[in-house]
Amino acid sequence: MRNYFDEGIFRDSIIQKEEFLLPDYLPDEILHRERQLQAMADALRPLVKKSPAINLFIHGPAGVGKTTSIKYILKQLSDSSTNLLIVFVNCWQTPTQLGIYNRIIDEMKLPLPRRGLAADEIFDKILSYMRNYNRPVIIVLDDVDGLEHQEVLYSISRSNDSGSNDSRSNDSKIIFAILAVANNKNYLAQLDFRIRSSLRFSELEFRSYSAEELFSIIKLRAEAALVPGSYDDKLLLKIANSTEGGSARRAIELLWKAAKHADGSEKKTIMIQDLEDVLAESASASIKPELKTSLSKEEQLIVGLLNKSEKGLESSELYGKFIAKIPKSKRQIRNYLDLLEEKGIIVSKDAAQAEGKESIMKSRIFSLKSPGSSGSAGNSLSDSEPK
Ligand SMILES: Nc1ncnc2c1ncn2[C@@H]1O[C@H](COP(=O)(O)OP(=O)(O)O)[C@@H](O)[C@H]1O
Ligand SMILES: [Mg+2]
Repeated sequence: MRNYFDEGIFRDSIIQKEEFLLPDYLPDEILHRERQLQAMADALRPLVKKSPAINLFIHGPAGVGKTTSIKYILKQLSDSSTNLLIVFVNCWQTPTQLGIYNRIIDEMKLPLPRRGLAADEIFDKILSYMRNYNRPVIIVLDDVDGLEHQEVLYSISRSNDSGSNDSRSNDSKIIFAILAVANNKNYLAQLDFRIRSSLRFSELEFRSYSAEELFSIIKLRAEAALVPGSYDDKLLLKIANSTEGGSARRAIELLWKAAKHADGSEKKTIMIQDLEDVLAESASASIKPELKTSLSKEEQLIVGLLNKSEKGLESSELYGKFIAKIPKSKRQIRNYLDLLEEKGIIVSKDAAQAEGKESIMKSRIFSLKSPGSSGSAGNSLSDSEPK
């Protein structure tokens, strides 16, 4: 009897090791991020000697290796020092103070009656653990713009301040290190002044990849995942050149889809036509493909809402429709709008001015920027072999 899950069934597939093409794969080698990896290592190194680290505010567009690089460097750090506690939080998934404290408690493996304890009390337990075990804690707040409130940052900043005045500070210190990550560079400026002055973030930027950089990234993936000879540099170049926004995530996705497409028609090699079909398929989807992979679901919702309205939407209307789908504060929604405007995907104008009235309330009208103007990687590569 034939087993449909037998390796043999896939023997003819172009994709030999699909895991190398999936979004969660953590590469052994990170290309073109030496400067950022070095900067993160330098910022965190003092922790090994139980000295305070430099807090980092990391920003850059989606898909440019922020999360991957952090995971990579933290793995190296935890391999070389066992006395650090690393807590990785995605703030879209865990947006509350209590949620984040619980994640820390989990990492500390502390038995805690979860019920009935207020956030402050849980935080006190965390601090006494840190004092007792003298263990610095690194908290990664990935997608930090998903946080509902800034309290977490505020509590941490205060505990750092009080720790440094502590007379016993030589043998037991409270040391938190924070890596906060956002797409929006302006997130830091919006933070409460007290938090900023106390946590003193250093900024670390991740820029979009150039087509040439994308080429080398997908080349490594193709070598790991695909049957040798099933693709050539010409295909990889075309993928690199077709990737909008300089996003490695998008480039790898295109490679994966093109391979699937070729597999689907039982070919032995991926043709340029496979890629073109994949690109055409995604172009016909209602939201542009590059937006789908480079925008958060909240940003996609806004684009979707604006897509449906011809004249654009006024702030309060937009907030209402947004909240009906995803519960968020107005402040958070504003943040997405800022992001989209910065990316050149939407535009806004003063609502009162638009009607010729004097501006009393700060209401704005948002609309999608006219097609054809959304940003692409820009620096295209020619078909000639890159060095
Ligand atoms: N420099 C790189 N080398 C290899 N793979 C990369 C690199 N940068 C990004 N990737 C891959 O691209 C995808 C998106 O990266 P990610 O770190 O999630 O981006 P971000 O957090 O900036 O949105 C992941 O699958 C990751 O493995
Ligand atoms: Mg990320």
